[in-house]
Amino acid sequence: MEKKFALITGGSSGIGAAIGEELAKRGHSLLIVALEDDLLKNYKINIEKKYPISCHIFGTDLSDVNAPEKIEKWVTENDFQINILVNNAGIGSKNNFDKIDIEFYKKQITINVMNMVLLTRLLINNLKKSTPSYILNLGSLGGFFNIPEKASYVATKAFVHTFTKSISYELENTGVNITLVCPGGVSTNENNKKVIAELKGLSRKSIFEPEEIAKIAVEGMFRKQKVIIPGLINKFALNINRLTPEFLRKIIIKNQLVKKSKYE
Ligand SMILES: NC(=O)c1ccc[n+]([C@@H]2O[C@H](COP(=O)([O-])OP(=O)(O)OC[C@H]3O[C@@H](n4cnc5c(N)ncnc54)[C@H](OP(=O)(O)O)[C@@H]3O)[C@@H](O)[C@H]2O)c1
Repeated sequence: MEKKFALITGGSSGIGAAIGEELAKRGHSLLIVALEDDLLKNYKINIEKKYPISCHIFGTDLSDVNAPEKIEKWVTENDFQINILVNNAGIGSKNNFDKIDIEFYKKQITINVMNMVLLTRLLINNLKKSTPSYILNLGSLGGFFNIPEKASYVATKAFVHTFTKSISYELENTGVNITLVCPGGVSTNENNKKVIAELKGLSRKSIFEPEEIAKIAVEGMFRKQKVIIPGLINKFALNINRLTPEFLRKIIIKNQLVKKSKYE
């Protein structure tokens, strides 16, 4: 029997790992791409123990400009048919623009933007052969906002939004469906958890666990939803932002930052 796979970048922990598990639960076999470490090896061992699926892993640094070609070579050599591509890998940042060194920006833009586009390009024909097929891109609620101290991160996510929406027009009637999911805060890595621990009120209530985001994202993807904004509070924040004039948005966001820095 021909076997099809879901390929997930950054799939060894956080949201990517949870999406992998959500797909495994539904019987999908997995190709997990992440940094070569024990986390990746253990992910394969644990998921194969828990679900009757197969999981293949490929360790590579997605900040390497050659990573997409290495992944495609691995896929071709093993004759993997891919019917789901999850472009999940992405790294955030929070500091004044001039306090972050250029090596970090190179890494962030390569992972979040360049390699996401290149990998999609290199795998699109494989996806077209396995229709109906799906691409799930991880954007961010931040990609709709102008946020000081996160300028580069939110700009990379705005790119993911525009890219996903634009390519979705081209993919109409090809059998390849593309979905953008835009989470707000998700309790994943240690940096996020530290920030989340200090949140209060509505901001705290808007936080999701990776498993909750994974379920919403996978269900939406199979329903062929174009854009998913998880959570009522996040949807509300986005609509308020759209209706608020820019000068007011600037005052609100700067006020939030001043409030936060009092506690830092
Ligand atoms: N968490 C949030 O609040 C949030 C909100 C909105 C959107 N998002 C987006 O959701 C996606 C996943 O976020 P997350 O919080 O789940 O991330 P995360 O917890 O930091 O997990 C990142 C995953 O990517 C892998 N990874 C990191 N750097 C890599 C590299 N250079 N090469 C290969 N793999 C690498 C990690 O592998 P290792 O563990 O081996 O390093 C891990 O599997 C990102 O695109 C992010 O922008 C997150």
